[in-house]
Amino acid sequence: MAVQLKEGVYWVGVVDWALRHFHGHELSTHRGSSYNSYLIVDEKTVLVDTVWGPFQNRLIKNIAELVDPSKIDIVVANHAESDHSGSLPAVMRHTPNATLIVSPRGKESIEGHYHQQWNFKTVKTGDRINIGKNELIFVEAPMLHWPDSMFTYLSGANILMPNDAFGQHYAAAFLFNDQVDQTELYEEALKYYANILTPFSAMVTKKIDEVLEINLPVDMIAPSHGIIWRKDPLQIVTKYQEWAAQRPEQSAVILYDTMWEGTRQMAEAIGEGIAAEGVQYKLFHVGLSDRNDVLTEVFKAKAVIVGSPTLNQGLLPTIRPILEDLRGMKFQNKVGAAFGTYGWSGEGVAIIEDHLKLCKIPVVAEGVKAKWQPKRDDLSLCRELGIKVAKAIRGEPV
Ligand code: FEO
Repeated sequence: MAVQLKEGVYWVGVVDWALRHFHGHELSTHRGSSYNSYLIVDEKTVLVDTVWGPFQNRLIKNIAELVDPSKIDIVVANHAESDHSGSLPAVMRHTPNATLIVSPRGKESIEGHYHQQWNFKTVKTGDRINIGKNELIFVEAPMLHWPDSMFTYLSGANILMPNDAFGQHYAAAFLFNDQVDQTELYEEALKYYANILTPFSAMVTKKIDEVLEINLPVDMIAPSHGIIWRKDPLQIVTKYQEWAAQRPEQSAVILYDTMWEGTRQMAEAIGEGIAAEGVQYKLFHVGLSDRNDVLTEVFKAKAVIVGSPTLNQGLLPTIRPILEDLRGMKFQNKVGAAFGTYGWSGEGVAIIEDHLKLCKIPVVAEGVKAKWQPKRDDLSLCRELGIKVAKAIRGEPV
């Protein structure tokens, strides 16, 4: 069902309560998601973004509640990724002569996805299109989320439609931020930022500064996933500024996997050392934990301590995905350390330390290796490692 945002502006998207994985199986979505699409009825009829392809019929039905889909004059594709562009073919079949507004890289990407000669018009930052009483104003926003992304602002209604930015994978019964559980909302907004936007934090800061400088009034921020920010809409912009600065909490996460519980004992002893210094920590068996939830905790924490037994002169395969995330997320302002058991060759700790250095996470305490099952002395070394990391978290000499 369509929902009115303001006079002449409607949400015509789809709430996907059943979604549990996104980007294939790359990202967990425990609370579902939504694909938000907006219909603007002015002298021209405009559709901003579509929905993922499997839901194309619901989008067309929602539009048809308000206008004949063949009367759409302008379609804006803020971002070419399939969750937003997947229903473009269906929409364009209804209105084949509509102008399709895209960024220059959006044109390249949409042509690559759909191989159609639609009536493209490319726009760049500052371009405006008059649609009657109001205007559409465009701001290119590369890397929020991909190089083609852009924001669309609707004057008069003062609605910013920034596509992926400021979104959440969060299915809810209601559409606006003042109507939903605030804890859930911020958990999902943070998970979204931590898992998707962290590597582009410098660009987030720059883009927010640029948009604030334009000084457009903003009554609502209407992203393409999750709820719409209408109560104090700039609160999420302030949060993004905070998150993009990557100033972690004074806390640690210990990430490990274990074969016969030895590395687990070491992880717990490290935790005891951290807690002895009055510093918070969380401990995750990564083989049993949701990778994206763990990554969100890594985002929040100052220290990341990784442990694995040595297996086949390397690491347990289950620890590898989170190491790949530590590389890809380009975290800043963190410190790290490594630990693990071994039976014969014992390369694991050095491999983790090398990887942390590759991720530009300085190793602040010498790694602890324990042969076979950890002895009392090994566990004492683990506690000492925890104490050293806690001191590094506080900025004290180790
Ligand atoms: Fe929601 Fe980058 O797609």
